[in-house]
Amino acid sequence: MRKWVLAIAMIAAAPAAGMAADAEAGKTVFNKCKACHQVDKNGVGPHLGSVVGRKAGSVEGYNYSDALKNSGITWDNAALDKWLQGPSKDVPGTKMIFAGIKDETDRANLIAYLDTLK
Ligand code: HEC
Repeated sequence: MRKWVLAIAMIAAAPAAGMAADAEAGKTVFNKCKACHQVDKNGVGPHLGSVVGRKAGSVEGYNYSDALKNSGITWDNAALDKWLQGPSKDVPGTKMIFAGIKDETDRANLIAYLDTLK
């Protein structure tokens, strides 16, 4: 019972942490993504314009792995945070080969930056 209360408290705290995130700092973290991702065009990876709130595997004309296409994920803050810790742990079989971002603040800032991309 006590563990549940703690888990719920942590979930409740997450959006507050998100609000403090720094999109400007996140823009620098985004340099790690640029080898494969652009904002307005598909490259090695799908474009990331309006990615926050988007259904996984839904960019027209991009050839996704079946694993990601069938994942049922919607890219909200929590889903992106999990994905960016290690895509192949999150979605085994994905073709995004990326070690992940260990630093929690870097991830929060990056997600805040992604949220500015329309
Ligand atoms: C080495 C290339 C590479 C790097 C670096 C990379 N990605 Fe990806 N990314 C991909 C590929 C390829 C896919 C498609 C995965 C699939 O179909 O399984 C993808 C998919 C994604 C998706 C899912 C998009 C959708 O439409 O469902 C997100 C979100 C994403 N990447 C974010 C990032 C971010 C943010 C970074 C930087 C921290 C990053 N990626 C770094 C190659 C990369």
